[in-house]
Amino acid sequence: MNIEKNVKTFETVTSETLIIGIQKHREQMKSWSLVSDFFGETIDVWLRSGDINTEAQKLTKIPYTGVNAQLKRIIFVGLGEQKNNTTDNLREAFAAVGKEMKASKIKDVAIWMDSFATDRIDEEEVAFLAGEGLHLGYYTMSNYKTSSNEADAYFDAVQFVTTATIEEVASNFEVGKIYADAVNEARTLINLPPNMLTATDLANYAVEMAAKYDFEIEVLNKAQLEEIGMGGILAVNRGSVEEPRLITMKYKATPHFENAIGLVGKGVTYDTGGYSLKPKDGMVGMKGDMGGAAAVLGAMQIIGATRPNQNVLAVIGATDNMVSGNAIKPDDVITMYNGKTVEVLNTDAEGRLVLADATTYAKQQGANYLIDVATLTGGVIVALGHDKTGALTNDEEFFEEFMGAAIETGEFVWRLPLTNNDKKRIRKSDVADLNNSPGRDGHMIFGGGFVGEFAEETPWIHLDIAGTSDASAPHVLGPKGGTGVMVRTLATFVEQRAND
Ligand code: BES
Ligand code: ZN
Ligand code: ZN
Repeated sequence: MNIEKNVKTFETVTSETLIIGIQKHREQMKSWSLVSDFFGETIDVWLRSGDINTEAQKLTKIPYTGVNAQLKRIIFVGLGEQKNNTTDNLREAFAAVGKEMKASKIKDVAIWMDSFATDRIDEEEVAFLAGEGLHLGYYTMSNYKTSSNEADAYFDAVQFVTTATIEEVASNFEVGKIYADAVNEARTLINLPPNMLTATDLANYAVEMAAKYDFEIEVLNKAQLEEIGMGGILAVNRGSVEEPRLITMKYKATPHFENAIGLVGKGVTYDTGGYSLKPKDGMVGMKGDMGGAAAVLGAMQIIGATRPNQNVLAVIGATDNMVSGNAIKPDDVITMYNGKTVEVLNTDAEGRLVLADATTYAKQQGANYLIDVATLTGGVIVALGHDKTGALTNDEEFFEEFMGAAIETGEFVWRLPLTNNDKKRIRKSDVADLNNSPGRDGHMIFGGGFVGEFAEETPWIHLDIAGTSDASAPHVLGPKGGTGVMVRTLATFVEQRAND
């Protein structure tokens, strides 16, 4: 993509399309006079008549036939009331434009930066949000229809009309694009059919990423997992003809791998439920049960590209959850990697078994802080719906810090409690140390709390993205399908830590 490094003016823009943000009260816009000078009074007339829509995210596309002969059209994007204008609104406004560009096959644009800026959000920050929002909105899910063309690549050129430093605008736009690219990669992984993304495929994907970004990588296969006794992931894998993989990547910011953040992802490439079989309607969509792994991989892609001064470890447990004569059964007792025994009461509560072993491994490999991400429970959907990620923690301060990143990215995270009584129920079993399914009452907490038993004293955050990882309908930042939720927040959190 060509990101133009020379400042353009309305007169010198060579793109075919110019994007202008338009607030409800145009007199509050910082340099409205420039626009009215350029377009003349008609703009005022159209605004007064409502022919240009100023409501948030509403687009008005008009042909242009003025002095700039290159310019063919203007896309006005509504920003609503200035007092409501936040970075979230701007990201969404740009995503709306990205969707329109995709739909109309617009390949090059110029952005009038100043029209998006406010007293609180300067043009440099607008540039980041533009790079992010436009590319998030531009994403489409690839399909396997024999009639379809290859999915379009991104648009390929952008220019800026700006009063800020162009180098900074251009580089912030580029970083925004890095963030969106990674989200889109995660979306694609989630959308891949399960026959096209096995645990082995997921590991190969990680190997390629590690080569590209110079991460250390280790992939353990079934025999190696057996050798070290990773009973949790192996138990889940028992019913499958596909081998499991435990993927570990290290991004080393310092020679000594200290103060490392461990990102742990659930990579269940398909969840049938096992012998606690899912009903047929509940099974459809379970190709997305590796959404946690996708979030971790997406975050690692950003980390690899932006190279923050913070050590990061990623551990992904990858397997599918199938049925066969060899599969685990309810009533089985298994021994986990850390030696704890677990009574399996429900083979569909498989994610926590995979995450528990991955969590132990992450600690062993030097993670000083842990964040696990997983499509773990239907319970979180009942509690918080499809637009809020559920969280648990054992460390208030660590969580508080993490929330700073979530607020910055606009990815809504809400913490649920994890009480001693909850822990008692996770530890209740006549035959083992723990059980994997204490009940359906408040069961998001049991899912995450089980992983917490393996995090032990290490500061830990659990993110249950079962409700937020896959969208059943198009939403402001993208189409239906994998959302790539938590990619941006995890990467932002790592970056914020690096800058502390
Ligand atoms: N992968 C599911 C959770 C899930 C549900 C993800 C809906 C995405 C959408 C998980 O492995 C599971 O089956 N959880 C069970 C836990 C129960 C058996 C304790 C659930 O939520 O019902
Ligand atoms: Zn399950
Ligand atoms: Zn699952």
